[in-house]
Amino acid sequence: MEKLVTTALPYANGPIHLGHLVEHVQADIWVRFQRLIGRQCLFLCGDDAHGSAIMLAAEKSGIQPEQWIETIRQEHYRDFQDFLVDYDLYHTTHSDENKQLSCEIYKTLRDSGLIERKRVTQAYDDQANMFLPDRYVKGTCPKCGSEDQYGDSCEQCGAVYTPDQLLNPKSVLTQTTPIYKDSEHYFFALSKCQDLLEDWVGRGALQPEVEKKLSEWFDHGLKNWDISRDAPYFGIEIPDAPGKYFYVWMDAPIGYIAATKHWANSRGLDEKKMWSHDSKTDIVHFIGKDILYFHGLFWPAILHHAGYKTPDHIYAHGFLTINGKKMSKSRGTYVTARAYLDAFDPDYLRYYFAAKLSPTISDIDLNWTEFASRINAELIGKIINIGSRCTCFIHRYFSGVLSDHLSDEALYQQIISNESTLLQLYDSRDYNQCLRLLLQMADQVNQYLDQVKPWAMVKDESVLDQVGPICTLGVSVFYSLMGFLSPVLPGTFERVQSFLRVEHSNWSDFCRPLLSQQIDVFPRLLERVKLSDASFIDE
Ligand code: MSP
Ligand code: ZN
Repeated sequence: MEKLVTTALPYANGPIHLGHLVEHVQADIWVRFQRLIGRQCLFLCGDDAHGSAIMLAAEKSGIQPEQWIETIRQEHYRDFQDFLVDYDLYHTTHSDENKQLSCEIYKTLRDSGLIERKRVTQAYDDQANMFLPDRYVKGTCPKCGSEDQYGDSCEQCGAVYTPDQLLNPKSVLTQTTPIYKDSEHYFFALSKCQDLLEDWVGRGALQPEVEKKLSEWFDHGLKNWDISRDAPYFGIEIPDAPGKYFYVWMDAPIGYIAATKHWANSRGLDEKKMWSHDSKTDIVHFIGKDILYFHGLFWPAILHHAGYKTPDHIYAHGFLTINGKKMSKSRGTYVTARAYLDAFDPDYLRYYFAAKLSPTISDIDLNWTEFASRINAELIGKIINIGSRCTCFIHRYFSGVLSDHLSDEALYQQIISNESTLLQLYDSRDYNQCLRLLLQMADQVNQYLDQVKPWAMVKDESVLDQVGPICTLGVSVFYSLMGFLSPVLPGTFERVQSFLRVEHSNWSDFCRPLLSQQIDVFPRLLERVKLSDASFIDE
């Protein structure tokens, strides 16, 4: 396998929303592109199924956590499939493979002297009989006095603190005042990994801005990492440590290897071939910028010391805002994948995200008015229109058969010669530049058609036969553009192939004109966007 590509494993405690989709669409476009140019890719994801939040959510609904996470996993997977995100496997961290691998990796780290034990004092709910994660204690901010703030930070003034500093603290679970208790915790000795990590960071797996961020963390010195949680906890029990569980962030990334193992073993293959120190497979992780600490520090350190390959690339992206605002349920800017799909074609959002995505970690704003104009004026008005105009004449005057030559072969070649730039732009995840170039290519054909005016020529018997090669040029460029766009618009491209009666799956097939063949009438490829179709948009 040439490349193993993953996206961050979504938590199994709520639906997939448009923020998640930035990442899954970004990665899917990249994987589809890689496959188009003949590179073998294994594309994996799954749910992150452990932790207190998931345990408590299941409890609240009165069902077993196993059943809860399986229902959510299926919903998540269906959402991704309906967005045409083409995973080879959508697994879960609550799997036999993950349990086995997490325990093995932990034991290797322990036997190498990288696990330390220390007593930790923590808020405890005496009535619920459990230790409370910081977010399960709420109270008054010690700095600004705002009420009802979480135990780790204040949403009003931004102060960062520990739960014991809150004034008037209450357990979110029972509203009782937490007591403080201590217990033994297990730590991964990240402080011993700084040299190793500085070396890894210098090896070019990261975007420049991310590399800078990590260097700042190095300057502050790396702290050991608490990888254990006390029962009750929904997770994987730590070997030889009864009542202790791996903190969800310990077994979550190991879920990437577990998914590989599940995929490989069910085909009689060995996942170690891809993950071993000397593996030739490129390991590529797509993640959001909020989880860089885990993927840029803990993860490579653990992999290295457990005898695995460290990631070759971590591609981080920014956060999605909607109409300039953070996604939030109370502000009405929280849109689930399913709500979107009930209103619009998945390819619209894929196109819009592509138009906004760059290789940087800048945030991305979804503005619905811009969304509509990108689809209606750009995609449909400039690109799809070439196909519909030209196909129509081929049917009306040439019985649906394309000519055996183009009216202007040089123009076709000149437009298509942008192909190598497009290729580089896709590969470096510069999708917005890619789309800009594709639109320029479309403009060139549109200008040509406006100049020669086939719609006027068809009224003049003496030049009618020239219209065939002109429209064959139009249909050919339209097909090439849609082929180059196929990683972004897989659903639309399938409909394009079907009416043009072609079945191509290689980039190079899009660099040749379609000649002398029968084509069907132009189908309904994409309707124009009507924002009023969606109840979640009020503009
Ligand atoms: N479970 C962890 C990841 C474990 S990976 C071993 C997690 N889950 S998450 O559901 O909170 O987020 C999953 C991914 O979605 C992360 O990469 C995160 O950055 C991304 N996003 C979640 N909300 C987002 C936006 N509003 N915008 C863009 N990406 C967002 O973190
Ligand atoms: Zn405050």
